[in-house]
Amino acid sequence: MFQGIPRLVRIVEVGARDGLQNEPTPVPTEAKVRFIEMLADAGLPVVEATAFVSPKWVPQLADAEQVMHALRRRAGVRYPVLVPNLKGLERALSAGAREIAVFTAASETFCQRNLNRSIEQSLQEFEQVVRAAKAAGCWARGYVSTAFVCPYEGAIAPEAVVPVVERLLAMGVDEVSLGDTIGAAVPTQVARLTETLLPILPLERFAYHFHNTYGTALANVLTALQQGVFIFDSSAGGLGGCPFAPGASGNLATEDLLYMLHGMGIETGVDLAGVAAAAQFILGHLQRETPPSSYLRACARVEA
Ligand code: HMG
Ligand code: MG
Repeated sequence: MFQGIPRLVRIVEVGARDGLQNEPTPVPTEAKVRFIEMLADAGLPVVEATAFVSPKWVPQLADAEQVMHALRRRAGVRYPVLVPNLKGLERALSAGAREIAVFTAASETFCQRNLNRSIEQSLQEFEQVVRAAKAAGCWARGYVSTAFVCPYEGAIAPEAVVPVVERLLAMGVDEVSLGDTIGAAVPTQVARLTETLLPILPLERFAYHFHNTYGTALANVLTALQQGVFIFDSSAGGLGGCPFAPGASGNLATEDLLYMLHGMGIETGVDLAGVAAAAQFILGHLQRETPPSSYLRACARVEA
């Protein structure tokens, strides 16, 4: 039944950015840096580090420069940072970023709320951002948020995602991550979007970014795996959410993803215990009664 699914999965860890951007409790810069380092030490190949967005819009990540300067980089690990515009890119490059991510949406209203501009305006700005980032030797990722459902507009047709992905590819991004921003997608929608996109988006550049609001994220991963997708975003501890997407809860927890993949014999190169330790570490800095991660809750029950 699972013959032909990828034997190797690449996980893009977004806990230090998506995971912390919506947390009400301020996290000290040193703790963010330690968290990122623990995640990289656990073997994660890509650890999104922070975002050079407006500190007025996302005060939680206002220390992006300090985080990047303090970071002890591990060889072979990518540390992408979100940049919303040329000013963000300038800040990111000055802080030593070598990997960047631009982010737009398939829904007009979400794009407006998140970036204060239309999809077309965001794409025009990102053309300049990606060109400048590439000229500076950076690796670049492009996110398409609300690829399934928009908190303001409802269901988004796969046909609305296609032109946005085409534009991102044309501007030269190395990878496109399709975001279920509010964690509302179900496997049939994932199957349809993958089928629609595969003719234009090669698997080597195809990533999914599932939030887990309704508990469907792992089912969505399994569906995409069966279609050959092998790059998935997730967040240690299951933290995450977007301040401009009401109703969005955490990302799929990296521990939950690893538990399923390793149990299925799929390799990731990531140490589950190391990720769980990093998740426990950052949860210790947040006021949360129970972690969103199923794996951590199960471990706590076993230990009790
Ligand atoms: P704006 O207010 O329209 O910006 O915001 P502006 O260009 O008019 O500038 C206003 C002020 O902001 C100016 O300062 C600028 O210098 C400053 P002032 O003159 O008032 O003192 N400014 C900046 N400062 C620092 N860094 C910058 C920057 N840019 C302008 N880069 C803007 C437009 C794009 C900046 C704003 O809307 C913004 O920062 N948005 C980011 C929102 C965000 O971070 N959302 C969460 C990440 S996306 C996400 O979570 C989804 C994802 O996980 C995938 C998924 O789940 O689907 C990726
Ligand atoms: Mg997200």
